Amino acid sequence: MKPKVLVTREVFEEVLEYLSQYFEVTSNQSDITFDSETLASKLSDKQGAMITLTDRIDTPLLARCPNLKAVCNIAVGYNNIDLQACTNARVMATNTPGVLDDTTGDFAWTLILATARRLTEAEAYLRDGQWVGWKLKQFLGLDVHHATLGIFGLGRIGQVVARRATGFEMNVIYHDVRRATPEVEGVCQASFVSKDELLSQSDIVTVHVPYSSATHHLIGKRELEQMKPTAILINASRGGVVDDSALIEALRSGTIAGAGLDVFENEPKLNPGFLELKNVVLAPHIASSSRATRYKMALLAAQNLVAVLTGEKPPNLLNPA
Ligand code: DGY
Repeated sequence: MKPKVLVTREVFEEVLEYLSQYFEVTSNQSDITFDSETLASKLSDKQGAMITLTDRIDTPLLARCPNLKAVCNIAVGYNNIDLQACTNARVMATNTPGVLDDTTGDFAWTLILATARRLTEAEAYLRDGQWVGWKLKQFLGLDVHHATLGIFGLGRIGQVVARRATGFEMNVIYHDVRRATPEVEGVCQASFVSKDELLSQSDIVTVHVPYSSATHHLIGKRELEQMKPTAILINASRGGVVDDSALIEALRSGTIAGAGLDVFENEPKLNPGFLELKNVVLAPHIASSSRATRYKMALLAAQNLVAVLTGEKPPNLLNPA
């Protein structure tokens, strides 16, 4: 008898075919997000699950899944999983690091350029039929070239963003809980500074830290007030790292010039304040969403699941085996 696994959201058919070689697969190609009750009931007789950041894995859920051995996130971020609860329940948790760094870094740059040059605001104006001709002072933006780029978190994705800055001949500074090695600083051409220095010196602040209680509201009212009024803020990491209400107020009052956001508190419910603002570029959590990368993420999650349920150590184990 093949082990039973659940795939909680729509994935590529090729990935389902791969899983079917090993498992009896229950999939959810209709892609309707399971509420916690549905997730628990569907998972109650399964040995493994491929999940996404929309699935919360915690003690009450695990208590209802006595056969469960693996939860494999199709994401590098794993703040949807209570790791301690998994360890207590002897469930292995995995994520998908590495395969999405370039694509996510590219998207951070998409937001940087679109926000600095006010692209979505200008496009909306044009689509609305308001454009009557060239004007010298139309949609004046922020120059990215030779600007100072401040990166919070010089991990894998932060490093990609830093390396891309070379082409724009930027001054790159970063802050992290741990200083990077001289090799990494050299490749990234990035200088370590304090949090306060980063905020006050940067023209563009971009955030690339995982979400945790330590990074909750890393950027709030105080931090926004430390930024230059001409500066922009980019977040393609996780909602909750930035205090959305404080950001809306800062964008409204001109404390900072703009923001480019791929992630939000309480996704997918957007704070309506964002929709009233022109100086914010908004995206629905798609930074890693190129076809190639989302495929690699799903396949890596599937490989982690196969490894656990065939008695191998999974390549991306998050908690003690
Ligand atoms: C991740 O991998 O954590 C991304 O946010 C998923 O899109």
